[in-house]
Amino acid sequence: MDGTTYLSDYKPFPFEIRGVALTFALAPRATRVRARIEIAPREAGAALRLDGEELKLISAAIDGTPLTPADYRLTPTDLTIHPAALPERPFTLETEVEIAPEGNTALEGLYMSNGMYCTQCEAEGFRKITYYPDRPDVMARFDVRIEGDLPVLLSNGNPGAAGPGWAEWHDPWPKPAYLFALVAGDLRATSGRFTTASGRAVDLNIWVRPGDEDRCGFALGAVERSMAWDERVYGREYDLDVFNIVAVDDFNMGAMENKGLNIFNSKLVLASPATATDSDYERIEAVIAHEYFHNWTGNRITCRDWFQLCLKEGLTVFRDQSFTADERLGAVKRIEDVAALRGRQFREDAGPLAHPPRPDQYREINNFYTATVYEKGAEIVGMLKRLVGPEGYRAALDLYFARHDGQACTIEDWIKVFEDSSGRDLSQFKRWYTEAGTPRLRVAERFENGTYWLDFEQETPPTPGQPEKAPRHIPIAVGLLGQNGDEIMPTRVLEMTERRQSFAFEGLGARPVPSILRDFSAPVGLERATSPAEQAFLLAHDTDPFNRWEAGRGLARDTLVAMAGGAAAGADYLDAMGRLIGDAGADPAFRAACLRLPGEDEIAAEIARRGAAPDPQAIHAAREGLLAALLRAHGAALGALYEAMAVPGPYTPEAGPAGRRALRHAALAILTRAEGTARAEALFQSADNMTDEIGALNLLIGAGAAQRPLAAFRARWKDVRLVMDKWFLAQSALCPPETAAETVAALGADPAFEWKNPNRFRALLGGFAANHAGFHRADGAGYRFYADWLIRLDPVNPQTAARMSTAFETWARYDAGRQAKIRAELARIAATPGLSRDLGEMTARLLG
Ligand code: ARG
Ligand code: ZN
Repeated sequence: MDGTTYLSDYKPFPFEIRGVALTFALAPRATRVRARIEIAPREAGAALRLDGEELKLISAAIDGTPLTPADYRLTPTDLTIHPAALPERPFTLETEVEIAPEGNTALEGLYMSNGMYCTQCEAEGFRKITYYPDRPDVMARFDVRIEGDLPVLLSNGNPGAAGPGWAEWHDPWPKPAYLFALVAGDLRATSGRFTTASGRAVDLNIWVRPGDEDRCGFALGAVERSMAWDERVYGREYDLDVFNIVAVDDFNMGAMENKGLNIFNSKLVLASPATATDSDYERIEAVIAHEYFHNWTGNRITCRDWFQLCLKEGLTVFRDQSFTADERLGAVKRIEDVAALRGRQFREDAGPLAHPPRPDQYREINNFYTATVYEKGAEIVGMLKRLVGPEGYRAALDLYFARHDGQACTIEDWIKVFEDSSGRDLSQFKRWYTEAGTPRLRVAERFENGTYWLDFEQETPPTPGQPEKAPRHIPIAVGLLGQNGDEIMPTRVLEMTERRQSFAFEGLGARPVPSILRDFSAPVGLERATSPAEQAFLLAHDTDPFNRWEAGRGLARDTLVAMAGGAAAGADYLDAMGRLIGDAGADPAFRAACLRLPGEDEIAAEIARRGAAPDPQAIHAAREGLLAALLRAHGAALGALYEAMAVPGPYTPEAGPAGRRALRHAALAILTRAEGTARAEALFQSADNMTDEIGALNLLIGAGAAQRPLAAFRARWKDVRLVMDKWFLAQSALCPPETAAETVAALGADPAFEWKNPNRFRALLGGFAANHAGFHRADGAGYRFYADWLIRLDPVNPQTAARMSTAFETWARYDAGRQAKIRAELARIAATPGLSRDLGEMTARLLG
């Protein structure tokens, strides 16, 4: 027993929970929770083990008879009632416990934020509220009564009776405890109404603190669009009379899909043109959709155990990505999603934290809310859709909902639904769920007598605990172009199942140019010998927008890798960008995505993949050098583009104007070098929206010319928490790397650095970790500073401390000196007395 939980140990709970009635008497330091649980034994002679942590047990009784200490065993993690004390027929267990929400800085269970009570129970937070089988396969109906002297008292389900200082809620849908929620406080609602396809009227409320009401309109609209989309595309209707969303300032994650009562980090709800950027708006809409979509994929059908987390998360991310693609520009959304997947998930897969989308062991489940479970999980769903086609996908999902509604399921159940509805054997495909690592897909080509061959070879590198990898089932979308740029074969999906496999294309008059892995049809690393000229050709001619971008991205990456090694900027790249800058017919958002340079971490990853140790300072200089070369080559055209992309009229967050602003800022990023900050300064001065204001400020910080703008920004926004987060983030992420450690240390000592607030902590520390050359400064000052803060945060908020430790996951990429310095910091953290299980597990895995 080392505190590790294994998938192979799964056993069903030996009791059925027929109903739960909870009464909360709220008080900051001594909240009383009374639970009345209807229980029926399923196996004779089993003990009743209830999870419970940090609870003070006041009383416990079965069928009205108090238990004596001889009837149970109480430990810091559970209350276990001996079989001899349990009736062999259905019975009622009543308990009362006391908890202290005010002192709960971990933000898990019942806690307080700005005088408001709120909860976060996923994954295992309900056990900090009352004794209960806190596992997702135990589903029950909950009735809740809240007593507290606060104007708004909310819980799951539909509202029941209420009076001054109390309210009752009834959730008709059986649910696991992780979906429980309670909110109480002085809150204001922005309300709407949605009528479902079958005519149910649903009251919609966005609840926020007084003063924030004017920033809820966009979120409310996003809820309505999400509800309509899920009816239209998946045939899924909402199933309660009310849907409540609450915005909370202190929140460890993005948001939580509690049944009928979603709780959100306020940064993912509150938006106004003056305070939120285009990307904030897009992200708010996506997360609102994500949590709403969980009502079916997560709540009505939930997970049997936490190893199956990607059953709900991978599918729900796939659904929210499809929603955004439909609402906005689909091609650009795909490009953004793939860039994020590579930046976070490929990076995870290539390091010591690599794990399968369905892991088979964990110490702390909160450490597995990862890019692999979420984003790679979504890619796997996308591959399934590609393999069975859009109609086959809809048929599989219809079967999933029909077969498993009300159940707690596994990845096996999910795959079986696709097998049964399509008739296909997906046993090899299942490896995507059970094996870690990003397959490398090498391709060579031959042209013989009118037949064109693609010869593929796949190999997945070893990952922790999985030295050998079997071949994966990989859908490879391919199209062929002629030498004149016309498409001669539209997209076809090849299915690779062997380690080595060749595909022939017959009857061709001349050697074609291949467009491989269109739309990023599988999460693999494609390796192909190509030339800058061919990349430029595909950027100009490919009919698949993802692969157009991909060709340009590859060209940019190769150019930057060469420049980090001392080469000059190549003409192919500069010419290709020149054509793009002048291509007024192409979509602005797409051109912006092509014009933005890869980040320094991406360049470092590429250098490491090629077997060398990246030099962060050289990478930073290369990127600056390429921006300067673009300015020299295309300064005039970029200036004209900057003017042409000005958006007239008042700000709206729609995709059209947002795309123009994105292109405008991509041009400005090249135009704003140390010697030319005038445009950025003018934009900062005149901005009437946060996209322009912070975009300009970011560039001024990078140019080392931001002292006055930073002071002005602070004076203007000092009372708006979410905007002050941007002030911290911009400086830590973009300040000149040579002195970043000092800059960030000064910000850490600023009285406005409220480090116990997760958003503020993430802004400063997360921003610094993204300042690649600053964080990785050779003297190790960045590592030391970062580790100091993790050690300080851990006893207060272990979940966030553990998550932030992933900044160190790339240590093996770097030279021996940096490796030793990072490992020394990790060892120092690991040796900290009283270290949390969360951060303890992370440092152990990071050190390997
Ligand atoms: N289920 C939530 C979501 O993806 C995230 C909850 C994260 N909780 C955690 N303890 N890590 O929408
Ligand atoms: Zn989710």
